Amino acid sequence: MSFRIQPAAPACPNRCQLFGPGSRPAIFEKMAASAADVINLDLEDSVAPDDKVQARANVIEAIGDIDWGDKTLSVRINGLDTPYWYRDVIEVVEKASHRLDRIMIPKVGCAADLYAVDALVTAAERATGREKPIKFEVIIESAAGIAHVEDIAAGSPRLEAMSLGAADFAASMGMQTTGIGGTQEDYYMVREGQRYWPDPWHWAQAAIVAACRTHGVLPVDGPFGDFSDDDGFIAQSRRSATLGMVGKWAIHPKQVALANEVFTPSAEKVTEAREILAAMEDAKASGSGATVYKGRLVDIASIKQAEVIVRQAEMIGAA
Ligand code: COA
Ligand code: MG
Repeated sequence: MSFRIQPAAPACPNRCQLFGPGSRPAIFEKMAASAADVINLDLEDSVAPDDKVQARANVIEAIGDIDWGDKTLSVRINGLDTPYWYRDVIEVVEKASHRLDRIMIPKVGCAADLYAVDALVTAAERATGREKPIKFEVIIESAAGIAHVEDIAAGSPRLEAMSLGAADFAASMGMQTTGIGGTQEDYYMVREGQRYWPDPWHWAQAAIVAACRTHGVLPVDGPFGDFSDDDGFIAQSRRSATLGMVGKWAIHPKQVALANEVFTPSAEKVTEAREILAAMEDAKASGSGATVYKGRLVDIASIKQAEVIVRQAEMIGAA
């Protein structure tokens, strides 16, 4: 048992991150009116190279002009392997209003990627007198990213959240898939003639959750491409929530309600967690460290599990 106390992740709701291309300003108001906790205005892969400069201008203008309510507002910059990223950072930090909360850095491969962006952001913040420090979020979507995930999670005091980007991750890993997230047709096992489909993202997700929880960062599941498949989205989200992730991206507005539903602990779950805490209080009062709740063992570890659910519910106002 380490004597180091696990740091708490930021206490901000992060159940759903809604993405929209910076080159499509007509949807910005709709994004702001959505029920997503986080809005990600994209300058990266949903924007064609010829539209990069205009998209940057659109996003900078929209950050100041649109009422984003109490949402966390994030801009996804281009990757550090492109000629666009440094201008994204400088122009966004210099010109966007102070309403901006986060910069999302895609395709991070090592902690030095965060250092590089941090150095640029720090200089631009000082030069322009920004008082509210801009936070970071990163996407793990390469072999290098997952290999260095723990260093990356510890890579900057600005870091708030880390997402798994399934499509680029699959490509970088050389996986023979084309779907964005979810089960994959050829990833199956056979038992007594029956096929069943395990989860090819499980290991990467668990690695991300462990790195994030070690360093007080929010672990988030990335996109699910088939936005016609609600059941698939819900199943993927439930697996992610069970593994410790706090939310999921929406790449279409219809996915927002689904993510909010899954990542808001249900009333039954919260009630059960509270009952477990009460049962453990009674156990403690009678001098024991374990007791029985609904026919099963609960002990001191159960208190921590139950507290995770109650805390999450309280933070998003669902308790
Ligand atoms: N945020 C808010 N509203 C959106 C939206 C988004 N990301 N995408 C579409 N809408 C709106 C549409 O404008 C339309 O509004 P209307 O009913 O007022 O006309 C409504 O939602 C239904 O849209 P629909 O016709 O089903 O989708 P589309 O063909 O316009 O767009 C996508 C589909 C996938 C291209 C679009 O959702 C999109 O660009 N998603 C984000 C992609 C992205 O950012 N990727 C990067 C991260 S992986
Ligand atoms: Mg990507």
